[in-house]
Amino acid sequence: MAKKRVLSCIQPTGDLHIGNYFGAVKNWVDLQDRYDCVYGVVDLHAMTMPYNPKELKENTYRMAIDLMVCGIDPEKSLIFVQSMVPEHTELTWIFSCIASYGELTRMTQFKDKTEQVETGGKGSFVSAGLFTYPILQAADILIYRADFVPVGRDQVQHLELSRNIAVRFNNLFGAYFPEPHPLLTDTPKLVSLADPSKKMSKSLGDRHFIGLFEEEESVRKKVKTAVTDTGQQQGNEMSPGVENLFNLIKACGKTNEFDELMKQYKSGILKYKDLKEVTADALVELTTLFRKKRNEFLKDRDQNEKLIKLLSGKARDFAGQTIKDVKKLTGLPV
Ligand code: TRP
Repeated sequence: MAKKRVLSCIQPTGDLHIGNYFGAVKNWVDLQDRYDCVYGVVDLHAMTMPYNPKELKENTYRMAIDLMVCGIDPEKSLIFVQSMVPEHTELTWIFSCIASYGELTRMTQFKDKTEQVETGGKGSFVSAGLFTYPILQAADILIYRADFVPVGRDQVQHLELSRNIAVRFNNLFGAYFPEPHPLLTDTPKLVSLADPSKKMSKSLGDRHFIGLFEEEESVRKKVKTAVTDTGQQQGNEMSPGVENLFNLIKACGKTNEFDELMKQYKSGILKYKDLKEVTADALVELTTLFRKKRNEFLKDRDQNEKLIKLLSGKARDFAGQTIKDVKKLTGLPV
């Protein structure tokens, strides 16, 4: 039986942090053996908010390479840069004409980001692209006729819109697109080191996350100053900061250390200093390994750029076929 197809994409937001890695990219790597996988770096989506052109270009290149550094294997999976497959934008227009305006106005991410733009001191410019963002996302997914989309819960609403577009298309023009479903995998939820009440994210500031390629000294410093007890816990509930450190140790695969420290925690003799030391060691091991791998990868820029072009070209072949079919079905000349 043919393997089902999985697709996911990531915005080129600068270096990956361990929250992105354990929460998404590592899962993508693991899915490669069971599914036919397609992974994209969505630079066009990154243009919907204020950005710097030089940074966008560099970040897009880096992200494509970093996916491979993390273990996305171009021999197994299709990897593309969104702007290098212009068929995505072509399909976006066609989908714009069957996507519901009302449904778009209900997207919570649009409302959140609009608020960010309006209150973030970057002027109050809200682009139309930010509004139609989910239609481009639907095109990313459906152009490869994906069955499953591994995403976080924050993307479930966008995925529902993609599904509605697929259904409406099929009703109007004939059954063509599979309905894409979210693949909600149980990945560790990593929170900010400095404020464990928030999800780990770069936008919170440097103290809040650990980069996947971060240098030893700064990793150790961030773990050392990580918030543990906040004094708000009831009974023997574990505080989110402590739980986060345990989650990190487990995510790094240090199960023996995890079990031993958990035993100490349960008998009330755990020293946070020890917990932090084990966490820092595990993270330093991880980031050192990734930094080494990345340095290897980044040696030959010309060759890397050629590779990205070649891979995106393969994606174009696939996407081009979908566009042909869609044009035939929708009454456009091919
Ligand atoms: N909107 C997604 C995010 O911000 C990124 C994205 C774009 C995506 N196109 C996609 C995710 C297609 C999954 C499938 O995380």
